Amino acid sequence: MHAHTGHRPTTGLKGLLVAATALGILAVSAGSAPAADPPAAGGDALMGRARELFKPLPATLPVVRNNAVTREKIELGKMLFFDPRLSASGIFSCNSCHNLGLGGVDGLETSVGHGWQKGPRNAPTVLNAVLNVAQFWDGRAEDLKAQAKGPIQAGVEMNSTPDRVMAVLNSIPAYQAKFADAFPNEKNPVSFDNVAMAIEAFEATLTTPAAPFDQYLEGKADALTDTQKAGLELFIDKGCSGCHNGVNVGGHDYFPFGVVTKPGAEILPPGDKGRFAVTKTADDEYVFRAPTLRNVALTAPYFHSGKVWDLRQAVAVMGSSQLGATLSDQEIDKITAFLTALTGQQPRVDYPLMPASTPATPQPVFK
Ligand code: HEC
Ligand code: HEC
Repeated sequence: MHAHTGHRPTTGLKGLLVAATALGILAVSAGSAPAADPPAAGGDALMGRARELFKPLPATLPVVRNNAVTREKIELGKMLFFDPRLSASGIFSCNSCHNLGLGGVDGLETSVGHGWQKGPRNAPTVLNAVLNVAQFWDGRAEDLKAQAKGPIQAGVEMNSTPDRVMAVLNSIPAYQAKFADAFPNEKNPVSFDNVAMAIEAFEATLTTPAAPFDQYLEGKADALTDTQKAGLELFIDKGCSGCHNGVNVGGHDYFPFGVVTKPGAEILPPGDKGRFAVTKTADDEYVFRAPTLRNVALTAPYFHSGKVWDLRQAVAVMGSSQLGATLSDQEIDKITAFLTALTGQQPRVDYPLMPASTPATPQPVFK
């Protein structure tokens, strides 16, 4: 079984889970500095400050709420993640828009799905998404299992229905067997809920530990270049870390896009009011989840609108919109250099072999 990512041992999953529980990986929350770790040997003042704001990404599998992650679930979830038959057209899989060879994104301004329709938002990465407080730019899905049901049914994405997905999976005996393995002791293992549970289990494996910044936080002073260290210092001193902090360097809280100065309509289209659609509270107009900045160098274009293609420009926009600061070119260069140190080990995922359709499998529909 190779659903597990390459950089983790494929044995001892239980041990990893126990270790992850002990570390309380999911316990990082907004603003709370991690319990004072002893200063690392060879550390400096900057490292000490960084260790109060950020946490290294563990190489262990994170704990998932209300979903015991097993090898069988991961394996099934990987097949489902890559299986385009979850879409009505048989063309789109989760991987179409969250390409695991491309940092977990599609590299498009906004995603293109069923019938060549262009969706309203940029696709965020699935890498480390398990560590986010909630899913989507507006946090409308509380976790990955709730999230996974969305795209399968979204008209502009996969345009399928739970009934159709059940018909597809039930028409393929090998899939029925995989569900029975992954959900033992369940009367009806093939269910739409279990599709979401299996996908969530697989997504939990998509973390990217051992970025240079993680190594630095773990005490390796020379894991960052001098320029990256200068960028880290600016990232803290200018206030970026007020919103992008914790283990995911973001992903845990919501803020207005345009705290100080609202970006222009080309970057912040007026029609998308973000979290307002979820809470219906006026204060939440144009509020979005501060995204994780892990692997951000791999995931252009930027912002929920996908309008900014250059990471340097995204940094400059953040300076003016969120902090009221006009960053100099040198400052932008340093911060951007720091952000590249957030690129971790990418999960190495063997392409899954999916069982063949049968004559009973619903045929693709394009309308
Ligand atoms: C047609 C492209 C497309 C397909 C197919 C697609 N997604 Fe997405 N995904 C998106 C877009 C766009 C968003 C952001 C939508 C929003 O925030 O309103 C998103 C958001 C997400 C998120 C939230 C990440 C975060 O940080 O908030 C996850 C997780 C995710 N998708 C997983 C999946 C899974 C699992 C599947 C397959 C069942 C899937 N996606 C299929 C485009 C797609
Ligand atoms: C007040 C909170 C806040 C502060 C301060 C802040 N950000 Fe952000 N950041 C956000 C939010 C919210 C978004 C999402 C905006 C959107 O697309 O709707 C974001 C998005 C980003 C993105 C785009 C990521 C992506 O995947 O598209 C980058 C890069 C970024 N911030 C870097 C920075 C840097 C560098 C600083 C400091 C100069 C900074 N941020 C300061 C809240 C903040």
